[in-house]
Amino acid sequence: MCGIIGYVGKKDCLKVLINGLEKLEYRGYDSAGVAYIKNKKIEIIKEEGKIVNLKKKINFKIDSNLGIGHTRWATHGKPNYVNSHPHRVGKITIVHNGIIENYLELKKELIKNGYSFKSDTDTEVACALLDYIYKETHSIEQTLAIFKDKAEGAYAIGLICDDNLDYLYAVKKDSPLIIALGKEENYIASDVPAILEYTNKYITLEDGEFAKISNDKVIVFDKDAEIVKKEIKVYDGKSGDLNKNGFEHYMLKEIYEEVEVVKQVTNDYIKDGIKSLTSNMPKLGNYERIDIVACGSAYHAGLVGKSLIEGYANIPVNVELASEYRYKKLFLNKNVLVILISQSGETADTLAALKIAKEKGAHTLGIINVVGSSIARYSDDVLYTKAGAEIAVATTKAYTAQITMLGLLALNLAYKNKEMTEKEVLEALDEAKKLPTNIQSVLNEADFYKTIARKIFKHNDVFFIGRLTDYALALEGSLKLKEIAYVNSQGYAAGELKHGTISLIEKNTPVFGIVTDTNIASKTLSNMKECKSRGANIIALVSNDLKLDKEIYDTLIEVPKVSPIFQGVLTVIPLQLISYEVAKLRKCNIDKPKNLAKSVTVE
Ligand code: G6P
Repeated sequence: MCGIIGYVGKKDCLKVLINGLEKLEYRGYDSAGVAYIKNKKIEIIKEEGKIVNLKKKINFKIDSNLGIGHTRWATHGKPNYVNSHPHRVGKITIVHNGIIENYLELKKELIKNGYSFKSDTDTEVACALLDYIYKETHSIEQTLAIFKDKAEGAYAIGLICDDNLDYLYAVKKDSPLIIALGKEENYIASDVPAILEYTNKYITLEDGEFAKISNDKVIVFDKDAEIVKKEIKVYDGKSGDLNKNGFEHYMLKEIYEEVEVVKQVTNDYIKDGIKSLTSNMPKLGNYERIDIVACGSAYHAGLVGKSLIEGYANIPVNVELASEYRYKKLFLNKNVLVILISQSGETADTLAALKIAKEKGAHTLGIINVVGSSIARYSDDVLYTKAGAEIAVATTKAYTAQITMLGLLALNLAYKNKEMTEKEVLEALDEAKKLPTNIQSVLNEADFYKTIARKIFKHNDVFFIGRLTDYALALEGSLKLKEIAYVNSQGYAAGELKHGTISLIEKNTPVFGIVTDTNIASKTLSNMKECKSRGANIIALVSNDLKLDKEIYDTLIEVPKVSPIFQGVLTVIPLQLISYEVAKLRKCNIDKPKNLAKSVTVE
């Protein structure tokens, strides 16, 4: 979380910084600030709240060619003016993303050495530490090398020093940071889209590396402070992803992009029969077990993956929250495959889980959206979901891409394990080909979903129930509503509701009953009846092969019936659109919900 931008070059620095921060606002938006050089002095402007507040305080006519900027997602200290970045101590000014875990210890030491602190942040402590070391070394390179040994935790830091006003400095460990390369100008940023309108060439800093950057030179030092030659990468994403293209919100645009996204995900695996599936997937071994590890919606995607891989490939699968997995006893060896699912590829807990899995000798596979992100780089194998840049904090198209990819992976493993014949796999791949048309037909019902949203938007308790894959979708539907519409909702295994939670069902409580699995449909339908007889307003979301008795539901949403491998891709879309419409009716900030950040790079 938190977004960092830095610029050195001939452009109007303040415009570049603000423009970059606006692109990074999805990473945090409770305060923002910039530091820039004017008449050979560093000036700082910061403000509480969104970047638009900061923008009002800035005089864009100021001539400046070097600066750093920050948009904050508060960790230490309230989101107020004093705690916002940049922080300045002595000759050092920094912006920081991450958490300095030993900041209290460092703070005590620094106080003994005469420093005093204005803010509650770990960042001000890091800044003071850098200043303290710099006073001894008089060299920023040496300062950064020593800082890395003293500061524990995660950090990506952009730095300017009063004595070296032609340079930007950057250092990183466990938080993302790139250096982007322009013509007689260079940038630092938390991710590539922030600078994509200026350049698509960039260098990724690895943990422990630091850099000295001027308008015409970038020198990167490795973790032993030796100069290292870095590969220049070219970002192949589209900058079009960064516009709303006429949609009212990014989230809505991204839901409508699901047609194209699913085409992108499936394309390489369906174009040439069974060969394209088997040769374009990583060569995986024979595993006794698969652990799927992720956070948030990616975890819910993992639950869909579990149903599919167990059901079709006959391999046992555990799905674990990365924040738990990293601290629990793990039974890992080379016969276990650990799959990390992440849109950003930077989620701190998922990244930590990956490192542990590798240390313990498991084979690791990332299912990742952001190309070249940390999890993608560190995993043994990677499958890219190719959903393009996702800007709305609540994920939609990236989740859909993840479950599509998991369907393809399940097919591949099922074929490899001889659990499915070539004919059966080809039939499923044929269904994958038809997915875009089917997604479009679900999207065509958008007006109907609006009417459902109008009926439920005033309710503060909403339930989503289902079994197996439909239960995993229920959890995702419920999370969407919580995230963007601030509605207290529960995703529940349909059969479990009566063991306590059914006491919360009252007259008119909305209950979404998700039923697409014919084998167990009658069971979930019974659970829906149990809710209805207690007064619930039942919204049945079913595949159109099921013929429901009218007494079971109040509202019926039907989606096309496809192979169970890809059914979730269609079923989740009405849930995404209904949450969107409810959030709109409740006048919520849909693309940037309160308290949330898209890329969670702290524990
Ligand atoms: C945050 C986002 C969620 C996302 C989760 C995992 O909490 O708000 O939408 O599902 O992180 O993110 P990842 O990038 O690892 O998929």
